[in-house]
Amino acid sequence: MATYPPKVLIIGSGIAGLSAALHFSEFSDVTLLAKTSLDEGNTRYAQGGIAAVWAKNDSFAEHKKDTLEAGAGLCRESTVDACVQEGPDRIKELIEWGVEFTRDTDHPSDYDLHIEGGHHQRRILHSHDFTGLAIEEALIQKVRSHAKITVMENYMAIDLIMEGKLRTLTAASGLGRCLGAYILNIATNEIAPMAADLTVLASGGAGKVYLYTSNPDVATGDGIAMAYRAGARIANMEFMQFHPTCLYHPHAKNFLITEALRGEGGILRNLEGRDFMPDYHEMGSLAPRYVVSQSIDIELKRTGAAHVWLDITHIKPEEFAEKFPQVHSMCKKFGINAPREFIPVVPAAHYMCGGILVDEFAQTSIEGLVAIGETACTGLHGANRLASNSLLEGIVFSKRAALQAKNTLTSHVAPHAPKSLPAWEFGRAVDMEEQIDIVATWREIRTLMWNYVGIVRSNRRLNRARERLALLRHEVNEDYWKFKVNRDLIELRNLLTVAELIVESALRRKESRGLHLNVDYPKASPDEAHDTII
Ligand code: FAD
Ligand code: SIN
Repeated sequence: MATYPPKVLIIGSGIAGLSAALHFSEFSDVTLLAKTSLDEGNTRYAQGGIAAVWAKNDSFAEHKKDTLEAGAGLCRESTVDACVQEGPDRIKELIEWGVEFTRDTDHPSDYDLHIEGGHHQRRILHSHDFTGLAIEEALIQKVRSHAKITVMENYMAIDLIMEGKLRTLTAASGLGRCLGAYILNIATNEIAPMAADLTVLASGGAGKVYLYTSNPDVATGDGIAMAYRAGARIANMEFMQFHPTCLYHPHAKNFLITEALRGEGGILRNLEGRDFMPDYHEMGSLAPRYVVSQSIDIELKRTGAAHVWLDITHIKPEEFAEKFPQVHSMCKKFGINAPREFIPVVPAAHYMCGGILVDEFAQTSIEGLVAIGETACTGLHGANRLASNSLLEGIVFSKRAALQAKNTLTSHVAPHAPKSLPAWEFGRAVDMEEQIDIVATWREIRTLMWNYVGIVRSNRRLNRARERLALLRHEVNEDYWKFKVNRDLIELRNLLTVAELIVESALRRKESRGLHLNVDYPKASPDEAHDTII
């Protein structure tokens, strides 16, 4: 056995990072970082719920089939099996940790189950329509009271520290093992190295790379960009999922209208009032998500409209308020008298199906570095994620990562990070006097990603995006080395890297499949039925 407890650094406090902290703390000291407050991240905003085989008339085979169908031929089958089969146990664990899922009003000993696009069974456990918040609150309470977990809020990982920084390695070893990360104290702008025997990236998604997104501000793809700079393999970045129904209102920032409403019979209508989805898919408004978003995009372009409608007028007002309190109060806030009135909705960037390529135990291509949750590409989602499968993936893979690491980290030959690591070098960097360049460049990236690399793509637009991003890269690099880094500059640099990875991956895929629709290759090609790995 090792002589002292291993030290694990977890970067991110969504469902993946929090549940990992609880698992890893069974055999290790854990430091858990959050860029802002512990509860801020995509998890907090999850509405619909978490998919798992729960009902008696459901089966692993059916959940697997729906996941594979949504994934459009690119899911890794062994990963799908793992998530589907381990899902129910992980949910029981969440319940033991204090997560309260909504119960079935007719049979209170059972849980109420939602259905969403692409599912052929009711299998989504939820806490009304604020599932993510309920999960965060329960897990945070456990994590905060755990003696072996140190929580650091408002601390941001800038870059991974690689063995190659300490000594010269052979070309074949790349940058070597991951030894920890440089951490920025956002309040003071001080930077310090943090050593770890194992570093866990749980830093979430990258929706902020697009102008319109359901994601909160922290979702800037930091983990993917850090891993890429460290030489890790990154996969399937062309598969950004656009959620079909975000609230369309000039003052509503990032508000999602849950797909569970379509599960309850909600229908999408164009501005002429026509139920258009059956023209595109036999499942109508409950078709897999990419089909719905792409169909809305076609309808918007065809009619010149700015949004479509979600019609939930068949739901009784008191039932709507009781079952979907969050959507109800948000509609009210913006003067929409739902369910009596239609809700105006548009698609927005929602979920990154690609990410840091990992194996079945969350191991990246770099020793000492694992990745879990939305930042990872596990193979569960393939070319399109089935609704409510991501919270599931987060809890399944945090457990798997911990189980795997336990053997290595507690063995007598366990690799330990060095006691001291080199300090961050500021060089001749000076304080940045104004933020205007950052704000303007950030907006430029997000706008061009929306216009050129959105739901429907073409070679011409992708190439233009590549050229413009290369120009911006030059400017951002100049600023990065000239000025002392702060949160905004670090995020901008990461966003740019993620944008470039998305464009590069989209250009490499010479077909249309799942979320990636390129008018120059309108069909799927059997020759392209593989991951895009950078
Ligand atoms: P997150 O929950 O996003 O957490 C990321 C963490 O990383 C945060 O703590 C952040 O502060 C931290 N972080 C990021 N960068 C750094 C850095 N550089 N240094 C330090 N910390 C950092 N999925 C479902 O399955 N069901 C749903 O119903 C559902 N609804 C959704 C609704 C909305 C509005 C959104 C946006 C997503 C939804 N999803 C849903 C997707 C799902 O919520 C996310 O994929 C999942 O929560 C991601 O969890 P995570 O732990 O990987 O990351
Ligand atoms: C929703 O509630 O519509 C979001 C579900 C998901 O993204 O999985």
